[in-house]
Amino acid sequence: MDHRWSDMSEIIAEQEPLALHTTFGLGGPARWLAAPRSVEEAGRLVDRCREEDIRVYVLGLGANLLVCDDGVDGLVLRLNHHAFRQVEWPPLDGLRGSKVVVTAGAGADMHRFVLESVRRGLAGLEGLAGIPGTLGGIVRMNAGGRWGQIADVVREVTVVDEGGRSRRLTLEEVGFSYRSSRLGKAVVCEVKLELTMDDPAQVRRRFMDIWSQKSHVQPLGQPSAGCVFKNPPGHSAGRLIEQAGLKGHSIGGAHVSHVHANFIVAQEGATAGDVFALIGLIQSEVARRFAIELELEVKVWGRRHARSLESVA
Ligand code: EPU
Repeated sequence: MDHRWSDMSEIIAEQEPLALHTTFGLGGPARWLAAPRSVEEAGRLVDRCREEDIRVYVLGLGANLLVCDDGVDGLVLRLNHHAFRQVEWPPLDGLRGSKVVVTAGAGADMHRFVLESVRRGLAGLEGLAGIPGTLGGIVRMNAGGRWGQIADVVREVTVVDEGGRSRRLTLEEVGFSYRSSRLGKAVVCEVKLELTMDDPAQVRRRFMDIWSQKSHVQPLGQPSAGCVFKNPPGHSAGRLIEQAGLKGHSIGGAHVSHVHANFIVAQEGATAGDVFALIGLIQSEVARRFAIELELEVKVWGRRHARSLESVA
């Protein structure tokens, strides 16, 4: 183990393949992958990286992420220790319509968290049905869709800042906007959310309705990173890609989904380079036909080496 980590070697793996940790199933290794066991340990890692000029990446469930084939030269933090996955549910003894505050770790699996809130008859998260990821990742990018976004229910976020210090941020400091926030390099550790007590049967009905609508229009069971592009103001990226004639188009093992054109699905043998080549083709075709620049929603880690388009034409 590198001497810089000799005192923390039990929580750090070297050259860990990130393909094993992303929903795309693509990407090269992380130079180091660290799984801290407490906020204090996460802070120490971040501080050490600052001193040593090492870039820090934060990995959730790898659901909105495209890692380059060469991997990343830095330290990837994975908050999957149970200290980061705990959820504190308050006692539910109020009336329907009362607000309750739930405190949850950034590593909590969003799908399970949503299901549990529905089971308890707490409204506010059911609109996020079907969005994969950890709570921290969902907060950092303000994930959501037609039925709501996480910013609607977040009240406070505790982070480790660039200097390794733990800080509580107000909503103003978090600075949510469409599929984004101003969290920058801060590592989300814990989130307070405000949910509303409701009739469990009604919350469940809304959840099931949203889930079933999504499962018909999105390729939820296939290896992808969700929607690849943000919706440009007033447009749907999926519709634009379909109108550009690219639905079903493939480059290497990367394929524009037949179910929803804003999803790229990784088929057998796909590389991150194939996905980048397809992203480049989609951006240039949509710009040529509609004069609209599609901006990436998926996060990219590492140096992007797209396969040359000539070589795959
Ligand atoms: N459409 C097409 N062709 C397609 C896909 C969509 O014509 O291939 C049309 C649909 O018919 C519909 C419109 O485009 O009229 C919008 O499509 P949809 O309802 O599927 O929603 P979206 O805007 O494409 C957004 C979020 C999704 C979220 C859904 C539902 C973004 C970029 N996407 O999709 O989020 O699940 O609403 O709430 O904001 C994600 O962030 O990864 C994601 C999938």
